[in-house]
Amino acid sequence: MSEPARPLETNIGAPIGVFDSGYGGLTILNRLRQALPQADFLYLGDNARAPYGTRSFDLVYEFTLQAVRNLFERGCRLVILACNTASAKALRSIQQNDLPHIDPSRRVLGVIRPTAEAVGAVSKTRRIGLLATPGTVASLSYNMELAKLHPDLSLYGHACPMWVPLVEYCESEGPGADYFVKKDIDTLFGMCPSIDTVILGCTHYPLLLSKIRQYVPDGVTLLDQGSIVAASLVDYLQRHPEIDRTISRGGKVEYLTTENSEKFATMAAVFTGRPVEATRIEL
Ligand code: DGL
Repeated sequence: MSEPARPLETNIGAPIGVFDSGYGGLTILNRLRQALPQADFLYLGDNARAPYGTRSFDLVYEFTLQAVRNLFERGCRLVILACNTASAKALRSIQQNDLPHIDPSRRVLGVIRPTAEAVGAVSKTRRIGLLATPGTVASLSYNMELAKLHPDLSLYGHACPMWVPLVEYCESEGPGADYFVKKDIDTLFGMCPSIDTVILGCTHYPLLLSKIRQYVPDGVTLLDQGSIVAASLVDYLQRHPEIDRTISRGGKVEYLTTENSEKFATMAAVFTGRPVEATRIEL
């Protein structure tokens, strides 16, 4: 059950919905705002039920669908799943099975496809590393997208279950982060030393970037997923004026969370670098 959604007039447009299991999608939202400064955004973090990365396929799908429905009820006509785990485990089912019943004119887009598209132009060795949550790695979603788009690429995936908790508990600059980031990066490059491009396939990982840079071998490219997703959305909206027209343009952002709103505001400021106000909702 969600609280009654505030109806928005579709003829004056609606914000772009941005969904994440928690705070991580704020790293994507930052880039989306830079790329589309006029657009309004409505961010929803399911903080009360995060992390999603270790949850089952069925639960991630169920939670993500509830969030998408809620953002639709609030007027959004376009929702970005700014969470790799939700994109991996829920996006395809929502696009293929749910959207046709809910409203075929609305759109839900994810972060994996644009990232997989971008990686082909970057790698010279054609050996790609993926660092992500256990759920994203186990879903094989990146493997499937790369097999379709760039069959000459080999992907080596390694799950980093400690990285999200390190960020969530504000330990991304501490010695624990050094220990786990080095250990996981060593494991990845132990699988294939000639990896020259690494996908940071979790929206929390940009907050560990200084540590990650410290431990990856020289010359390795770290893909900035936020920029890739933002560029892909700009391109999508140019190709789909019928969706572009539905977006309201006041340059505003509103934040919704399923957890305590003060707690969200404090942590969100770490991700966005500015104070935010949030409203608590139930899904
Ligand atoms: N935001 C999620 C992702 O990008 C990670 C956090 C979680 O496990 O919920 O995969």
